[in-house]
Amino acid sequence: MPLPFDEINPPPRLLMGPGPINADPRVHRAMSAALLGQFDPAFTEYMNEAMALYREVFETKNKWTFLIDTTSRGAIEAVLCSLIEKGDRVLVPSFGRFGLLLEEISSRLGAEVKVLHREWGTVFPPEEIEEAVKAFQPKIVAICQGDTSTTMNQPLEEVGKIAKAHGAVTYVDATASIAGNRLAVDEWELDSVTAGLQKCIGGPSGSGPITLNDKVAAMIKDRWHVEKGIQPAGFTPGTRSRITSNYLDLAQIMAYWSEQRLNHHTEATTMLYGARECARILYKEGLLNGIARHKLGSDAMVAGLQAMGLKLFGDLAHKMNNVTGVYIPAEVNGDAVRADMLNRFGIEIGTSFGPLHGKIWRIGNMGYNCREPFILQTLGALQSVLLRHGAKLSAADPVDAAMDVYDR
Ligand SMILES: Cc1ncc(COP(=O)(O)O)c(C=O)c1O
Repeated sequence: MPLPFDEINPPPRLLMGPGPINADPRVHRAMSAALLGQFDPAFTEYMNEAMALYREVFETKNKWTFLIDTTSRGAIEAVLCSLIEKGDRVLVPSFGRFGLLLEEISSRLGAEVKVLHREWGTVFPPEEIEEAVKAFQPKIVAICQGDTSTTMNQPLEEVGKIAKAHGAVTYVDATASIAGNRLAVDEWELDSVTAGLQKCIGGPSGSGPITLNDKVAAMIKDRWHVEKGIQPAGFTPGTRSRITSNYLDLAQIMAYWSEQRLNHHTEATTMLYGARECARILYKEGLLNGIARHKLGSDAMVAGLQAMGLKLFGDLAHKMNNVTGVYIPAEVNGDAVRADMLNRFGIEIGTSFGPLHGKIWRIGNMGYNCREPFILQTLGALQSVLLRHGAKLSAADPVDAAMDVYDR
């Protein structure tokens, strides 16, 4: 390969898959601000502001609302590894790929995991979860809210209360659903929740917002063992087992996010600027206004896809507001259509995983990209590409159908 390479100059893309999406330009601008040291008072003030802003995003008063320098998967793993001790019982109601990820992470941590399986494209009625909690008596109920692999959004209003009534704590993966679908952490009594920036929050991937209530924070504090080189004089470790990961050890990370500012990893200051700007923008729009914008975008996308005669995947009453699964017409090659969308129109739509691979595409309308011009462009491009690939479509105009939704 000849060196030196050219500067980075990515082709223009409209990212309309299940995430990542194009970040809000204001987030890119915030991320180009000058670096600060991670103990600089100017920087720690930004950390405090980010905590306050993310309390709004999670609809919580939880003191322990902060960010971890990882992608969303790292945030999931951080909570699970900080909570789960070997042999703990974990119940995972799973309705897609990301439920199975919770099983995978929990079992790697030595938990006794029971998975409740639901057909992909459906969600759990709360009674089903309650029955399993009663029978299995887990320490933790770990569940995904919006599972992007199936586009389904699990109702959680009852789940936190059910777990609490039976002495369990909840962990929720809200990476893909938060800020596009309601997630009322305090009202629904959810104990620990994690997210990511790259979906409805409107930023790049690389920072994991987390919120923990006092109960979970105390459980994690009981496992606080400060690494040898930075132990403060007279430090007494927690009474329970040491968290098995160093990097994802929330007890140590919380010590840095506390007034104590005890060192752990070097904070990714640029990611914090970006995450803070995302939450600031959400706050300015109003969280509920943003969710309504996602619902409107979803209605427009659905109307456009149905106008072409395409069949939608799953239980539409529980579809996430920010992504739609659509069956690939039998007469076209799904990957070739996606390639033409990308190469001719610069628009990315999503493939799918596991049992749905080759059967559905997943089309997003999320974050910065959940707005009328981008939804109309995506529908118009998809219609042109599908016709060129010989799809037998209905005569109705998908762009017109989506414009009707916006006009209403
Ligand atoms: C519901 C859900 N959980 C977790 C993840 C993993 O996130 P990341 O790829 O940022 O680690 C994703 C990513 O698509 C997701 O949709």
